Amino acid sequence: MCFDCGVRADHFYVFFEVDVRLDKLLSITGTCSRSDAKRAIRTKNVTVNGIVAKNADMQVDENNDDVSYCGKKIVYRQYSYIMLNKPEGVVSATEDGRDVTVLDLLPDGVRNDRMFPCGRLDKNTLGLILLTDNGDLAHRLLAPKSHVAKKYRFCSRFPISDEDAARFEERLVLEDGYVTLPAKIELDEDRMSGIITLVEGKYHQIKRMLEAIDNKITYLERITFGPLTLDASLARGEWRYLSEDEIAALERHGKE
Ligand code: URA
Repeated sequence: MCFDCGVRADHFYVFFEVDVRLDKLLSITGTCSRSDAKRAIRTKNVTVNGIVAKNADMQVDENNDDVSYCGKKIVYRQYSYIMLNKPEGVVSATEDGRDVTVLDLLPDGVRNDRMFPCGRLDKNTLGLILLTDNGDLAHRLLAPKSHVAKKYRFCSRFPISDEDAARFEERLVLEDGYVTLPAKIELDEDRMSGIITLVEGKYHQIKRMLEAIDNKITYLERITFGPLTLDASLARGEWRYLSEDEIAALERHGKE
């Protein structure tokens, strides 16, 4: 943790292919704000190639310069991977003329123009969403043949019978004729809540599956996406960078 700005200094990300101002690099990597970067440089907390940096406007080369912030080396990474706990009322899009988007929840300097949500959650669905600028990995994770498992905590308006749960776990025919892949449903004692696991992601899929058994979703929260589990310490609307282990697990998943 940096004493100056309170930002955890163990994951830093860079999106540049050209030289960049030192203060901009510190802010865009999510290390600290641009003004905190200027302050850290003034208070001699930033080094470039082992030498204390004097000027915020000095140009640094991400490929060749070693930059350290409060004694911690910035690790250059080609892509950003962010876990966001999506709140209600926010749309899974990069921009929207009317509603707040998941990208709007990231501060300037963390968000970049190439970042997008990896998969969609409905406006009133909560929980885990992955934001990245690694289009190739996202494409592989979202490909229908990848069958990436996603778990959702849900509540329904009416109890779900054993018979309907069995239909859910076999195949359901949705109102447009689409036949779902087998899903898993784990019911709580009240039979009106539990966990649903999908290995596909059609539009409004869980809502439409519940409608197909004459029921209705009243609460939906995604709690896992492939190898990622929603970080319980993230409040709604909060985000964090993925850890190295989480990124490696995602990359493995994208290859399977
Ligand atoms: N199924 C839905 O109906 N909505 C979501 O947001 C995700 C899965």
